[in-house]
Amino acid sequence: MVEQTLVFIKPDGMAKRLVGQIVGRYEEKGLNLVAIKRVEITREMAERHYAEHAGKTFFEGIIASVTASPVVAMVWEAPDVVAIIRLMNGATNGAVAQPGTIRGDYAANFTDNVVHASDSPESARREISNFFPELG
Ligand code: CDP
Ligand code: MG
Repeated sequence: MVEQTLVFIKPDGMAKRLVGQIVGRYEEKGLNLVAIKRVEITREMAERHYAEHAGKTFFEGIIASVTASPVVAMVWEAPDVVAIIRLMNGATNGAVAQPGTIRGDYAANFTDNVVHASDSPESARREISNFFPELG
């Protein structure tokens, strides 16, 4: 089924100048880019985005990390795009993510792991409305 997913390149990925590499990987895979913009994530947006992690030890760290500087947010569309992009991004902890995945190639720790992607079509809908209210 055709799905959409929300991706953003985190501040550490921006600092490493990885926008072109990451967009290129998804394009070469045959996925369709339907929206893209540079965004300064506010504390409110970040807390909404990571609401499922509120109270966890890493919550303040991830909020600080994604609000540190602007990100590039995107909506990608294709059949099974949620699972495909999660596979291409690799495991959450860059230190153990498989080489060949984005995190495996460009990240070496847990919090600053280059890229976010939705974990289900339902999460994607919620996350897209947070980042792209104009698409609603
Ligand atoms: O991003 P992903 O869906 O793979 O992982 P998550 O479990 O939803 O966690 C969200 C983000 O919190 C991760 O991408 C990491 O940046 C951060 N995190 C962390 O710093 N330490 C952890 N033990 C788990 C997650
Ligand atoms: Mg997640």
